[in-house]
Amino acid sequence: MLSYPVRIALIAALGGFLFGFETAVISGAEKTIMELWSLSPFWLGFTVASSLIGTVLGSLIVGVPARIHGRKKVLLVIAALYIVSAIGCASISAWLLFVLFRFSAGVAVGASSVVGPMYISEISPAHLRGRLAGSFQLNIVGGIFIAYLTNFLFVDMGDDAWRWMLGIMVIPAALFGILLRTIPESPRWLILNNREEEAIPILHRLQEKNVTGAIQSIKESVKTHQENLFQKRYAKPIIYAVLLAMFNQLSGINAILYYAPRIFELAGFDKAQAYLQPVYIGAANLLFTLLAMTVIDKFGRKRLLIIGSVGMIVFLALTAYAFRDPESLGGNVLIYLIGYIAFFAFSQGAVIWVFISEIFPNSVRSQGGALGSFTHWIMAAIISWTFPIIVSGSKMGGFYSFVFYSVMMLLHLLFVWKMMPETKGRSLEEIQKELGIE
Ligand code: GLC
Repeated sequence: MLSYPVRIALIAALGGFLFGFETAVISGAEKTIMELWSLSPFWLGFTVASSLIGTVLGSLIVGVPARIHGRKKVLLVIAALYIVSAIGCASISAWLLFVLFRFSAGVAVGASSVVGPMYISEISPAHLRGRLAGSFQLNIVGGIFIAYLTNFLFVDMGDDAWRWMLGIMVIPAALFGILLRTIPESPRWLILNNREEEAIPILHRLQEKNVTGAIQSIKESVKTHQENLFQKRYAKPIIYAVLLAMFNQLSGINAILYYAPRIFELAGFDKAQAYLQPVYIGAANLLFTLLAMTVIDKFGRKRLLIIGSVGMIVFLALTAYAFRDPESLGGNVLIYLIGYIAFFAFSQGAVIWVFISEIFPNSVRSQGGALGSFTHWIMAAIISWTFPIIVSGSKMGGFYSFVFYSVMMLLHLLFVWKMMPETKGRSLEEIQKELGIE
C-alpha cells in the first residue's frame, strides 16, 4: 500500500501525464489535419503551434489563481480544460474550433507545468521530494510514450484516425478530475493564508515529524517578504530557474519529440517505420526517467545534470555528423537519438520540474514557478518553430541544428558545474537560507 504523501503526489502528477500526451499526440495527427482543411504550411504551423501559444499563456497567468484560490482548485480547472478539449477536438468539424480546443488544452498544459510540481513539492517530506516531484516528469514521459503508441495503433483506422488519437485523452483526463477530488489542499498554501487549523491535520497525515516546527519555519519564511518576485534578493533563484529552463529546451528535446516521424523520414525510413520509431524513442525516455528517479535523491540534481550534459553533447554531435553524410544516415540516427534521449531523460528531464519547484521561497513560489515554466514554453515554441524551417531550408540544416544543440549543452555543462547549487535532502526553507534569502 502506498503511503499518503506518495498517493496524493501521484494523483497530482497525473497532470503531467496529460501534459506529455497532449504535446506528443499532434505528431501523429498533423498530416491528416493538413489534408482535411487544406492547410498551407503556414496555417498548419499555426494549428500545431496553437497549443504552444496556450502553454505560454497558461504558465504566465496561473501563478495568480494558484496564489489566491489555492493549488487544488486550479488543478480541478486544469482537469476540466483537458476533458473539454479532448471531447471538442474529437467531435468538431470546423477548423477554427479545433484551434480553440487545442489552445485551451495548451493553457491546461502550461498551467499544470507550474501547479503540478509546486503542489507536489509543497506536500512532500524533504527526503522524498526529489522522487515525488520527479514523478511529475515520469508522468510526462509516460504520456508521451502512450501518445506515440496510440498514434501508431490508430493510424490505420481511416479518415477518423486523428479523432481517436486526440479524443482518447478524455479517459485519463476524467480519471485525473475524479481522483483530484480526494487530495487535500497544500498545507503550505493554507498556512500562508492563515488557515493553520486546517493545515495541522494534513501535515500529520503527510508524516511531518515536527508539525509545530514545520509551521513555525513556513511562517518565518514569509514573515519578512513582500509577495513580489522581482526583487534583488530573489536574483539567484530567478537566474537559476530561467537558465535551467532555457537550456532544457536548447537541448532540442521538443524539436526531436514533435518532429520525430519527420526526422526518421528524412533519415530514409518508410512511413510505417517512421510511426514506429518514435515509440522506441518514447520507451527509452520512459526507461531512463525511471532510472533517474531511483537515484535523484541519492546522487543529487547536480550530478545527474553533469552526467547527462556530457552524454547529450556526444550524441548530438554524432547526430550532426550523420546528417553531414546522408548516405550513412538511416539506422545510425535512431541509435544516436535513443542515446541522446536516454541522457536527456536521466538528467535535464528528471531535474527541471523538481528544481524549479524547490528553489523559490514559499512567499514567491507560485510566481517563480510560473517564470521558469513560462521561459521553458517560450523556448519550446521558438525551437519547435525554427527546426522545420531550418531543416527544410538547406541541405545542411539538420547538421547545423544539431551542432547548435550540442554547443548549447556544452554551455549548460559549464553553468551546472560552476554555478548551480545542490538542493537534495534539504527542506524548502533550508534551501531558501542557503540561497541567502533571509
Ligand atoms: C521535460 C521537458 C518537456 C519535454 C519532456 C520530454 O519535461 O520540460 O518539454 O517534452 O521533458 O521528456
